[in-house]
Amino acid sequence: MNRFPKTIGIIMDGNRRWAKNRNLPIISGHRAGVKSLKKIVVRCCEIGVKELNIFAFSTENWNRDPFEISGIMNLIEWYLKSEIAELNKQNICFKSIGNKHNVKNGIRNLLKRAEKITFNNTGLKLSVALGYGGKQDIVFSTKKIVDKIIRGELYKEEITEKTVQQNLQSSHISNIDLLIRTSGEQRISNFLLWQVAYSEIYISEKLWPDFNPLDLDYAISSYLSRERRFGTSNIINNDI
Ligand code: IPE
Ligand code: MG
Repeated sequence: MNRFPKTIGIIMDGNRRWAKNRNLPIISGHRAGVKSLKKIVVRCCEIGVKELNIFAFSTENWNRDPFEISGIMNLIEWYLKSEIAELNKQNICFKSIGNKHNVKNGIRNLLKRAEKITFNNTGLKLSVALGYGGKQDIVFSTKKIVDKIIRGELYKEEITEKTVQQNLQSSHISNIDLLIRTSGEQRISNFLLWQVAYSEIYISEKLWPDFNPLDLDYAISSYLSRERRFGTSNIINNDI
């Protein structure tokens, strides 16, 4: 049996379908998704998950309808404004990853504030991927490594997996033990590619706004019942 998952990743999917099923505007689905997220964060704290990594908005999501994008951005702004104090109270250490190039200043500043205020917190590490792409992250790492070689700080022969990992924008994120995706879709969608190499994947048929703490418990019990071999013939219960 596996050890309790330390690092969980969630691809929160199905907000729009949830809204469409109810004949509601799309933004209501995203709003309901935020409510769902808050409950899941609380549950992760309660049960002692060390890291929760959530996919809020991908690089590719920038290609959505501008009206929807601005609705999502307003929601993120509202979430941060109303939630920073609460995250801090819950001893959560907040981080964000992704390219904030297109993100408006207000949100960028709120993200920085959240990271600063919660920096020394020792509870759940909550990482929000915003404008994030796993492939872009590997490009980011590659460029940093090349710069170091050019500056003479590193030799090509010294490059290992660890070098690539340490130069990722997401270098603070551990290997993901359990990756959850909602809404029945069976894709990684360019989430934390490096960290999902040996993740156990759990697909929930529920749409994200319907996914509740009990569903998280089910996902974890499914994880606990699996054998992790990491490509060997032995069952390995530790992180690699
Ligand atoms: C996930 O729900 C939230 C974001 C990617 C921002 P979707 O918006 O992808 O909803 P569906 O998958 O179209 O139902
Ligand atoms: Mg989707």
